[in-house]
Amino acid sequence: MKKLVLYCSIDGNTDAVARAIAKEVDADLARLVRVKRVKGFGFFNNLKLRSEVMRKKKPDIFPFKWDPRDYDLIYIGTPVWYDSYNPVYNTLFNVIKIYDRKIALFSTGMNEEGKALTKLSNDWLKESVLLGTKHCIEPIWEDEESQTEAILADMASWAKGIADTAEKMIEEEELERRKTIYKF
Ligand SMILES: Cc1cc2nc3c(=O)[nH]c(=O)nc-3n(C[C@H](O)[C@H](O)[C@H](O)COP(=O)(O)O)c2cc1C
Repeated sequence: MKKLVLYCSIDGNTDAVARAIAKEVDADLARLVRVKRVKGFGFFNNLKLRSEVMRKKKPDIFPFKWDPRDYDLIYIGTPVWYDSYNPVYNTLFNVIKIYDRKIALFSTGMNEEGKALTKLSNDWLKESVLLGTKHCIEPIWEDEESQTEAILADMASWAKGIADTAEKMIEEEELERRKTIYKF
């Protein structure tokens, strides 16, 4: 079963989770990177970024090489921005449709889980099989290294559970497919 961890990250929290997941389940990593860097979070920049999220803008992203059709299971990760997902996903999903794939969504944020992942799934991923969602608080800004490690381990263990479920589903689907072949 081929797995991809697709994510974006500005300050490194979602990146740390993405890497922990990819290591645990042996997945490829694909990071979406904005062409125009986010320059600080002062008052005016905050207004601009909020408007990007609210108006579902499509910031330019650098080209990427991966193709969702090459993967059976895709983990999709985002930092929470104004209780929503990062707008780079508007850019991506406007040109690439991920459908009929097994997916799992994760997020990092400064608060407990909100609506970001539900919004991402409702806006762009309705045609895929959602196996689970998980959120964590900014892992790399914990005071103790052990706390960072504990959060990353928890996210990795969730990802392993998702991979096991996907594997079982694929086995069952294959059995069903064979039954159909023998029937006709
Ligand atoms: C523009 C902006 C808006 C944010 N809005 C929220 C929010 O609504 N809720 C929340 O919990 N965290 C919010 N955060 C905090 C980020 O979600 C959090 O720091 C996240 O871990 C950053 O991920 P990254 O380090 O991978 O970029 C916001 C951060 C930024 C920069």
